[in-house]
Amino acid sequence: MCGIVGYIGNKSATDVLISGLKRLEYRGYDSAGIVVVSGGKLHTVKQSGKVRDLEQMVYSRWDEKFQAGATLGISHTRWATHGSPTPENAHPHYDQTGRLAMVHNGIIENYSSLRTQLQAKGHVFKSQTDSEVLIHLIGELYQGNLVEAVCAALKHVEGTYGIAVVSAERPDEFVVARKGSPLVIGLGEGETIVASDVSAIISHTRQVIYLDDDDVAVVRASGVDVRNINNVPVSRAVAKVDWDVGAAEKGGYEHFMLKEIHEQPESLGNTLRGRLDEQMGTALLSGLSLTPRELSAIRRVVIVACGTSYHAGMVGKYYFEELADIPTEVDQAAEYRYRNPIIRPDDMVVAISQSGETADTLAAVREAKQKGALVVGICNVVGSTIAREAGRGVYLHAGPEIGVASTKAFTCQLTVLLMMALKLGRCRRLSRQNGMELCEKIQEIPKLVKAVLARNDEIVKVAEQYHQARDFFFLGRGAMFPVALEGALKLKEISYIHAEGYHAAELKHGPIALLDKQTPVLAMVNDIAGRDKMISNVQECRARHAPVIGIVTEGDADVEANMDHVIHVPKCSHLTAPIPTVVALQLFAYHVARLRQCSIDQPRNLAKSVTVE
Ligand code: AGP
Ligand code: GLU
Repeated sequence: MCGIVGYIGNKSATDVLISGLKRLEYRGYDSAGIVVVSGGKLHTVKQSGKVRDLEQMVYSRWDEKFQAGATLGISHTRWATHGSPTPENAHPHYDQTGRLAMVHNGIIENYSSLRTQLQAKGHVFKSQTDSEVLIHLIGELYQGNLVEAVCAALKHVEGTYGIAVVSAERPDEFVVARKGSPLVIGLGEGETIVASDVSAIISHTRQVIYLDDDDVAVVRASGVDVRNINNVPVSRAVAKVDWDVGAAEKGGYEHFMLKEIHEQPESLGNTLRGRLDEQMGTALLSGLSLTPRELSAIRRVVIVACGTSYHAGMVGKYYFEELADIPTEVDQAAEYRYRNPIIRPDDMVVAISQSGETADTLAAVREAKQKGALVVGICNVVGSTIAREAGRGVYLHAGPEIGVASTKAFTCQLTVLLMMALKLGRCRRLSRQNGMELCEKIQEIPKLVKAVLARNDEIVKVAEQYHQARDFFFLGRGAMFPVALEGALKLKEISYIHAEGYHAAELKHGPIALLDKQTPVLAMVNDIAGRDKMISNVQECRARHAPVIGIVTEGDADVEANMDHVIHVPKCSHLTAPIPTVVALQLFAYHVARLRQCSIDQPRNLAKSVTVE
């Protein structure tokens, strides 16, 4: 999920690689490393921390004479998924012989079984990462032809990868391959540069080849030889990049937030990958490190979080209570840490935090541990403080979230909560058949989100109509009530418009006094339980002349007749419905803020991670 830069040509590889990594820093990372080929040897510098720290170490170790002779190298910024951000876990990683080195973006799902097989053959691993297993496998299969060994090894791999591999014996080429983690090849004059995205390439050349999944390529100064995974040559078109660097960093999107909204089918795919057991109808969440017996002993769940993560926890309550029949409460972490909570030995406290550094949530974790609770973390940043202090949990694998307003992390949090509830339910009354059916519904989530992203134009139209409103209400019932809170938060955060998320039934107990024709209402009228009551609540709003924008299930014509405007979402289970629905609200908030020319990625007064009280 992070950054790769590879180079071969007539310049100092060190200079090209370090400046290329700097171009990729925006993607978020926790460690960095570089390896160059010179004098029949591999020379590596790697460490946790920033590229500038790596740069300092590299230039203090490698003098200009050495650098001038090292014109082939690969480099990496790591966003840890397996193994904390330590120097040992930083890339590149070496094979058993120390003659091959590799950098990797992505997740090798079956690394554990491959590692066991290789250890049985005497392989010794130096890191906790999944990536190191792959280069050992390539080394095991290497008989002098590097691209052959890479193709053979990748056939054993389940998961995603973007890789670059160098050999001490081959100073005139290196090999790259991709599946699920992008790689772009820049074709220069007597030089070739490979990177995770064009932002690291366009200062050298604008002639590029975008590798497809299952492509493998031999990269030389004179150009590139693209093969498929069976080592059969394939042809790939050369494209011309007309983006500037700023646009390139955002993948061509105007803002990181929009890029991350559109990344959700991919990030949700990463969250799900390797975690559902369709045969047994359950979820495989090894990071919980809890046996079915331990899971079945849990009598109450307490969820602690802040902001968007708190809204995710509110949805999680519905999942745990419906699927696992476990009483579940959701606490704002800032309250929980001070209210001397009652904790029983059979409580499970679930701390949800994208950054894993939020001060209130961390304090809540420490208070829960102090009182003897079983604590579980749901975080996105591997090795973050909350993840480490919880000691067990489930990583989102959503990739770095750069936009301050959280989007892809939220939908991945809901997906993890749903899988946890499934797992807990299967330790209780949930049958294998029900579990299998739920697995199918969960697998559908990325497709549901894609369907909403395709509704962008419909959402833009509504945003154009109401982007000058001064007040909004977001209404929902059941699990759509926290979705209404989240939609209101998104709009507040990035457009600075006052927006209230409210339980639809509560409106008439006071806030309805605020409604008039200047107060648009977004109502979650999905075709799920509570739909008919929502229609009545909508009619109450329209009777006060408030314009109503309905989030409506595709094909539900009856509901549409009761709305002033509609945004369509796909038909799906009530359990997964919060996810496509919130994506519609994310896009709505984004387009309103864009039309108001707000600072969307860095809204005023906000920080990405609130590490203070
Ligand atoms: C969400 O859009 C906000 N940026 C904010 O509410 C955030 O969710 C909250 O600060 C919690 O952050 P965390 O998930 O990293 O703990
Ligand atoms: N899964 C690999 C690791 O944890 C690669 C992570 C990345 O894409 O940066 O080291």
